[in-house]
Amino acid sequence: MSDKTVQLTDSATNKTITLPLLSGTLGEPAVDIGKLYKELGYFTFDPGFVSTASTRSAITFIDGDAGVLLYRGYPIEQLAKHSSFLEVAYLLINGELPDTAKFSAFEDEVTHHTMMHESLKNFLHGFHYDAHPMAMLCGSIASLSAFYHDTLDIGDPEQRRLAAIRLIAKMPTIASAAYRYSIGWPIRYPRNNLDYITRFLHMMFEVPSEPLALNPVVAKALDLLFILHADHEQNASTSTVRLVGSTGANPYACVAAGIAALWGPAHGGANEAVLKMLAEIGDAKNVGKAVERAKDKNSSFRLMGFGHRVYKNFDPRATIIRDMTHKVLADLNVSDPLLDVALELEQAALKDPYFVERKLYPNVDFYSGIIYKALKIPTEMFTVMFAIARTAGWVAHWLEQHQDKDTKIGRPRQIYTGAVKRDYTPIAKR
Ligand code: CMC
Repeated sequence: MSDKTVQLTDSATNKTITLPLLSGTLGEPAVDIGKLYKELGYFTFDPGFVSTASTRSAITFIDGDAGVLLYRGYPIEQLAKHSSFLEVAYLLINGELPDTAKFSAFEDEVTHHTMMHESLKNFLHGFHYDAHPMAMLCGSIASLSAFYHDTLDIGDPEQRRLAAIRLIAKMPTIASAAYRYSIGWPIRYPRNNLDYITRFLHMMFEVPSEPLALNPVVAKALDLLFILHADHEQNASTSTVRLVGSTGANPYACVAAGIAALWGPAHGGANEAVLKMLAEIGDAKNVGKAVERAKDKNSSFRLMGFGHRVYKNFDPRATIIRDMTHKVLADLNVSDPLLDVALELEQAALKDPYFVERKLYPNVDFYSGIIYKALKIPTEMFTVMFAIARTAGWVAHWLEQHQDKDTKIGRPRQIYTGAVKRDYTPIAKR
């Protein structure tokens, strides 16, 4: 923390107030405007929270200009190379990398909470067969609060910890059950002898009639994608989890709200939208037209998978995924014409003054869909994949929020632009 201050003078009244400047261990300082309203009678106006820090957090750091992403201080590139998703989940939640004994206890606990309650199947069966899996995931995760009364006391650290484990453990089971229900396959139960990622792939793809021959490249690629998606500080869905959490709502409701926020195409829904966009462009020769359309202010079309609120340089996750795309496609012997479209589109946009001036670079969603497609994950499941991985971050933030003595209910103010006070007119006189 710094003892620096910022002085603010109201030119209308000439009153000057001194506001504290808060610093963390990395990143830009923030002006603490907590007493602004009390002292000057003004609110601040910042739609989209472009200049607003909503909390202190020790989980993830992003330097958007330098293209840096750290989980608990560890560069994403190192974690992508050496770690596993489950180890990263432990790191995000606990703050330190586990030793062998701690990791094995964590893995064991997650493994033994992967079953979903049989009654939850009734929920899934209530959905129409062609419901979007994100709709089923969102509803089913919210419903967990009806099954786990023993972890709803958010004042009890042990119950909070158990809820976090349950969410990480059950998310792949429920996600794969939603997918199988949508294609009419019987639900597969989690197998405890498999690791987190392989177990999920078995629940997705194994059929009762024959054993699943799984290429290890698939599990390795998915593990890496999950690491890259595990957390991203105060993004829209995590901020949603925290906002709902600030009301004292139970963890399952908070994470269901996070899933709903993630679904939007400006956020996690972009990975599904990218693939649809690439398929629509269809051929590298049509890329020029798509770029022109994305620049046209009369069109609502945007290049999906491009741009980011924080990164004004390459998204480091996109750089890792881009390299990985070529390797995964080669290892799986898959040739995908959409990759050519994506490469051409990236090159065209990176050269175009519109994208250069606005610092719009490919983000995490730009290439991830092509890999998911090569792994035979259906397009409607792309955002579900994001949700499984981001659950690690959501629960880490929810746990942190409940240990933070400064947490209070999130309640923004507004600039009212409606009608001024007026009198009611009876209907006959309107
Ligand atoms: N295509 C065309 N123009 C764009 C794009 C794009 N993808 N992204 C931003 N712009 C333009 C925008 O029109 C604006 O132009 P101008 O200054 O002339 O008004 C300028 O760039 C700044 O954009 P913004 O909308 O003010 O930026 P933002 O920080 O509010 O939005 C964003 C960030 C990610 C929502 C946006 O870039 C976008 O819609 N991208 C496409 C969707 C996408 O890929 N989302 C995934 C984000 S990363 C993963 C995740 O969060 O889940």
